[in-house]
Amino acid sequence: MATEEHKRLADVVKGTHALLRAEYHQYGAKIAWERHLARNDVLQEYAASMQKLAVKCWANNNSKRDGTYCRVEWIKTQCKEYFLSGGKEKYDKREQDINTKISLLPENSRVENQTCENDRIDMENESLNFHEQRLSILDVGSCYNPLSTDNAFDVTAIDLTPAAGIFKCDFLNVAIGKEKVLSWDTQEIHQLPANFFDSVVFSLLLEYLPCPKQRYVCCRNAYDVLKSGGILIIVSPDSKHVGANARLMKSWRYTLSKMGFMRIKYEKLRHIHCLVFRKCVWKDVAIRWSKLQNFSETDRKYMSETEIFIPQDFQTICFKEKQERLDKYDEIHLATAFSELPFNNEMF
Ligand SMILES: C[S@@+](CC[C@H](N)C(=O)[O-])C[C@H]1O[C@@H](n2cnc3c(N)ncnc32)[C@H](O)[C@@H]1O
Repeated sequence: MATEEHKRLADVVKGTHALLRAEYHQYGAKIAWERHLARNDVLQEYAASMQKLAVKCWANNNSKRDGTYCRVEWIKTQCKEYFLSGGKEKYDKREQDINTKISLLPENSRVENQTCENDRIDMENESLNFHEQRLSILDVGSCYNPLSTDNAFDVTAIDLTPAAGIFKCDFLNVAIGKEKVLSWDTQEIHQLPANFFDSVVFSLLLEYLPCPKQRYVCCRNAYDVLKSGGILIIVSPDSKHVGANARLMKSWRYTLSKMGFMRIKYEKLRHIHCLVFRKCVWKDVAIRWSKLQNFSETDRKYMSETEIFIPQDFQTICFKEKQERLDKYDEIHLATAFSELPFNNEMF
């Protein structure tokens, strides 16, 4: 049973998401995001509430497959299985086999192989060193840096509102270049290095963003900062049964496959979808999956090359309701009565 405090914290989180979503519908993604970033008080309250929820409330419900507490353990396990227990080698080999098959096809039935030889050689060299090095992980929207407790990981944690040990960084608008560039006081990341991280983690991040295009940009940035053969781990809340949003899960796979990611793991736990995507060494290998699909007419409507959809995108809110939400914010500073997240109340 959720306590009063538990419910209050959840309302702050849900209220912030709902306000951002309402403003996105009212002003568009760019202005809504700027307004959001300018509300320091809201961001601070959100960060404090989210941390308390995760550390105090959800942590009490730590049975293996219930709640969302297990997400942190799930993420750690995937990284270790993939990099330290033969997972990466298995998929290196699988990719190589598929690439050979593609190369044997007549020329007019394949697209240009889009990976350079250097990437492949780097990948082979790196796999020799994995067991000696700490894994470099970029935790985007880290909030309270839950992955930092594990010695196997060298975590770069970033958030809009950083707590101790976390860099301030807006992953939507960060530059990606040759190397990491910090602010003068080393508190903020201005530029992230390309092709650098073994793993990028989006834990409960994508649904924070109100616009499908913004979610796409985040995934594309993840692609750019990952090494070839690196993995993007996505945890997304959904308390419904596995089939309820299967079409959306398929559309993520489609969009990410076009980007150059191969989905290598999918698990539906009680309140979350858990996914692992590998940045393919040969882009054609990733794209191949999307080419082999024969989507139904209805499925096709959800398949986009530049957007990542979540269930809330398909909930219609009438103008009056939107206006009420904004008015309410102005009146009491933080709306407390929204339930836009696909969580059910039990979870809070
Ligand atoms: C729901 S919380 C998830 C926190 C944590 N990852 C977890 O699993 O408990 C989402 C976090 O993403 C952060 N966030 C949202 N958009 C972001 C962006 N563009 N760049 C960096 N962090 C972002 C928010 O500030 C918030 O702390």
